[in-house]
Amino acid sequence: MPEPPAARPPEPFAGLTVGVFDSGVGGLSVLTALREHLPQARWVYVADSANAPYGERDEAWLQQRCLQLSHFLCLQGAKLLVVACNTATAAALPALRQAFPEVPIVGVEPGIKPAVLQSNSKRVGVWATGATLRSPRWAALLAEHGPGAQVYAQACKGLAWAIEQGDISAIQALVKQYALPMRQARVDSLVLGCTHYAFARPWIEEAMGAEVTLIATAAAVARRVASLVGGPLLPTAGTPEGGAVQMWTSAAPAQLEAFAQRWLGWAVSARPLGGLPPPLEATQPASTTRAP
Ligand code: DGL
Repeated sequence: MPEPPAARPPEPFAGLTVGVFDSGVGGLSVLTALREHLPQARWVYVADSANAPYGERDEAWLQQRCLQLSHFLCLQGAKLLVVACNTATAAALPALRQAFPEVPIVGVEPGIKPAVLQSNSKRVGVWATGATLRSPRWAALLAEHGPGAQVYAQACKGLAWAIEQGDISAIQALVKQYALPMRQARVDSLVLGCTHYAFARPWIEEAMGAEVTLIATAAAVARRVASLVGGPLLPTAGTPEGGAVQMWTSAAPAQLEAFAQRWLGWAVSARPLGGLPPPLEATQPASTTRAP
């Protein structure tokens, strides 16, 4: 009898691994677009649901937490990071780029520029979290792209959390509540400036009416990421793990799995995110960015 072949150790993934994180499930709306644009990459997603909503956190806390999550994703082999959260981007993007200078980092920002450009009435609504709308980054974005339009910004307290919980009656009630001032302002475009809100799109469309265009940025972010990928970041065609998603969550894995199944039809298994390594000092980033 010939000897059975010895089990071979798994080969390291040869293609591109991209790390993506959000305060919870919202970033899955970005991940969906990313997977369409880069089908050969491998994805590591972190939902920091135990710490959601980020929209009620302060900037210092958000920066520290985003450094920790980014460090973790680099240790999982990520060679590119996507901050799939407007709130985290507003608070932490420069700090992340400083701490991980070798890693391309793409953030997500409310699409005020495309909204103003395509608006006929130049009356534009923006829904985002309180933390995003309080940030200097939002003020700068508004100063750059807002002139020439009337911009009605609305902090939608509670909406991201209702979506995180999959609580449809709470989602419907909050959407109705926040749609009213937008309708009164007669906006013709509404920016979805929080990645969670993409999951409430049918109710937002219903509440705002067909004449209002909803502006989300997931596809633009995915195109930006695809444009950065090349050379050493080129995904390898046909690698067995291409397209795979590894999910981590700081809350109960079953909750993330159930959300992915119910809202996206993804059958995924999630892992618990335990204690994270402390964030790196901004002066010593290199050792983790070269993780295999
Ligand atoms: N998904 C996040 C964003 O895009 C924030 C939701 C939250 O408040 O946790 O801003």
